[in-house]
Amino acid sequence: MTEEYVLRCVLMLCCALLSANASNWLYLAKLSSVGSIRDEETCERLRGLIQRQVQICKRSVEVMDAVRRGAQLAIDECQFQFRNRRWNCSTLETMPVFGKVVTQGTREAAFVYAISAASVAFAVTRACSSGELEKCGCDHNVHGVSPEGFQWSGCSDNIAYGVAFSQSFVDVRERSKGQSSSRALMNLHNNEAGRKAILSHMRVECKCHGVSGSCEVKTCWKAMPPFRKVGNVIKEKFDGATEVEQRKVGSTKVLVPRNSQFKPHTDEDLVYLDPSPDFCDYDPRTPGMLGTVGRQCNRTSKAIDGCELMCCGRGFQTQEVEVVDRCSCKFHWCCYVKCKQCRKMVEMHTCR
Ligand SMILES: *[C@@H]1O[C@H](CO)[C@@H](O)[C@H](O)[C@H]1NC(C)=O
Ligand SMILES: *[C@@H]1O[C@H](CO)[C@@H](O)[C@H](O)[C@H]1NC(C)=O
Repeated sequence: MTEEYVLRCVLMLCCALLSANASNWLYLAKLSSVGSIRDEETCERLRGLIQRQVQICKRSVEVMDAVRRGAQLAIDECQFQFRNRRWNCSTLETMPVFGKVVTQGTREAAFVYAISAASVAFAVTRACSSGELEKCGCDHNVHGVSPEGFQWSGCSDNIAYGVAFSQSFVDVRERSKGQSSSRALMNLHNNEAGRKAILSHMRVECKCHGVSGSCEVKTCWKAMPPFRKVGNVIKEKFDGATEVEQRKVGSTKVLVPRNSQFKPHTDEDLVYLDPSPDFCDYDPRTPGMLGTVGRQCNRTSKAIDGCELMCCGRGFQTQEVEVVDRCSCKFHWCCYVKCKQCRKMVEMHTCR
């Protein structure tokens, strides 16, 4: 063995340890080469899972395709919510999927943890309701006649099952650390806040029965909000996130606002430990740090999507581009809408 070889092995080991990241299971979304997760053997082959998650996978194989859909849902929603920000949630083909951005205790990491924990709870609950799982179905605790006089009926989303699964699968690494590090506390708090974003926005959906839709009999069920709504809620929490630090109260460690003037955060708020980088420049040493060169910006906006802030003062280029739009739409009786295609030139601004 050459020295170089030994050195390389040591480096690889260090990298493996460093990249051991609690959100690596999101990498499931990238494993398109692995077909449906049907047997225990497949669990062993899923890159990104830690040993305890592999065990959960083996115990609950039938749920794993939903977990994978959850990972994709989290990534898609993150990209939607952050589409106009300097860090736009782009993923890498390596682990962790969001690069180094989530390995520090930043506000962005808080969002990623919250949306991921929520997405697993959401996708698993959806799978329960759709009847594709043996372990769970609709929530049968919701039944009888409500105080308002309607009948609970139909499939109520079994959010308790989805939340419990998310807690065991997503939180497993943090829990095994024994609540010791402030980072573990931060992650656990944000995971829980993400799940709360679903729990506190459950809705009642109803259907009317009776002669020609008269509402003589109304049947209702409990349903999760659309995931877009969950994303909006968590994004609002991101905007108002609380910077915290660890403090010892008796023998337990808790997170308290760094600025004691601020009111303490609630269970539904996001918390973070470290300030975010400015995300302005590409940094080859920091995977995922793409910088904002080439990003589209809005010339008139004073917000973060505006060229001033988005381009970090470097200025921008303006191009005329042709866009094809639907226009002169006419409603035809009955029932369709016909549109023409119009071409128009618009100005597009991109960061230098
Ligand atoms: C994010 O921005 C980069 C440029 O910084 C761009 O290449 C990428 O396509 C964007 N990703 C998404 C998901 O919008
Ligand atoms: C640009 O920003 C302005 C002001 O915030 C807003 O009214 C407008 O809709 C934005 N344009 C685009 C293309 O997003």
